[in-house]
Amino acid sequence: MPPSRARQFWRHLVVRDADLRHAERTASILRAGGADEELVLAGLLHDRAKPAEARLWHRVAATLLEGTAERWAPGCRARLARGEGTFARYLDHARRGAELSRAEGRSARVVRLIARHHLVPQDDDERRLAAADALALP
Ligand SMILES: [Fe+2]
Ligand SMILES: [Fe+2]
Repeated sequence: MPPSRARQFWRHLVVRDADLRHAERTASILRAGGADEELVLAGLLHDRAKPAEARLWHRVAATLLEGTAERWAPGCRARLARGEGTFARYLDHARRGAELSRAEGRSARVVRLIARHHLVPQDDDERRLAAADALALP
């Protein structure tokens, strides 16, 4: 395997492993807090549509776009989330993850929680998922 491919391969494994640990940690924080199985499942699946090839700058830029940038350039995030590029798929991972779960026949509650996990929480389920998600960050 050429060195650049080997680097890419290891990077992919490390990032994927971090994403899996984040998902498991989110679910286990929810379980420890007494959440029911549907909420725990939403915790496990909430970030599943993040593209495996996303780089650190995708993650940093996405976080910036969720904060101040959206106030100064409304709609910018939505425009960047269109298309099939890595950054677009990263920005759109909540919607895409919800669609995957819907296609698998998950409950409407799980689908909604995944779809809304980057929006301002509007009920107790969403607040609990948001809190566990934040606590489970590496
Ligand atoms: Fe997310
Ligand atoms: Fe997350």
